[in-house]
Amino acid sequence: MKKIVVLVSGGGTNLQALIDAQERGELRGGKITCVISSRADAYALKRAKVHDIPTRVVPRKQYPDNASYSKALHEALFEEYADLVVLAGFMTILDKRIIQAYKNRIINVHPSLIPSFCGDGFYGLHVHEKALERGVKLTGATVHFVTEVCDGGPIILQKAVEVRNDDTPEILQKRVMEEAEWELLPEAVSLFCEDRLTVHDGRAYIDHKEVSK
Ligand code: GAR
Repeated sequence: MKKIVVLVSGGGTNLQALIDAQERGELRGGKITCVISSRADAYALKRAKVHDIPTRVVPRKQYPDNASYSKALHEALFEEYADLVVLAGFMTILDKRIIQAYKNRIINVHPSLIPSFCGDGFYGLHVHEKALERGVKLTGATVHFVTEVCDGGPIILQKAVEVRNDDTPEILQKRVMEEAEWELLPEAVSLFCEDRLTVHDGRAYIDHKEVSK
């Protein structure tokens, strides 16, 4: 059983989707063994506690830079024997030390169809503000492996979501979460835990052989 450690910073609806999938028996081959938050006040911590999942706080505010923060986080992941690290609304960019140590073992969910609306400065609600400003008719979500290029790692799953004329960033964010993120993230985690993902030349491939009818 692979140990899944989920990193969070905020509301934790993606964490909730993972917990719900686990409780339905859909995280085959894996178990959420710890939730680590970059903020002590993250609501995501409450969600974990309700389900008796151990939590830790590694507060971003207490570290002067990303390098020292990543070192502390790395230690926490090591102590938790993490097999898979899931960034579920985690709002800190990891440095290369941690990314190299967990190569092809860190999964992130991003609220757009990468390579649109991604990279530095594109996170949370800002992504949807930019999509609406540009007037795209389709947006969506992407789950990908994390590399040193921000939002540039191998893409595991993507799903498109319609943009409507009267959308606000908040309404669009909710639709992207409901129709795409909460579905894709547990699916990608399950594929990883069943050893059905491989990476070659910067591209992720899904082994469809084992799909049950
Ligand atoms: C989600 O929309 C997630 O895709 C996004 O932040 C939100 C977190 O919500 N992540 C990023 O923008 C990372 N670049 P949650 O805390 O309710 O899961």
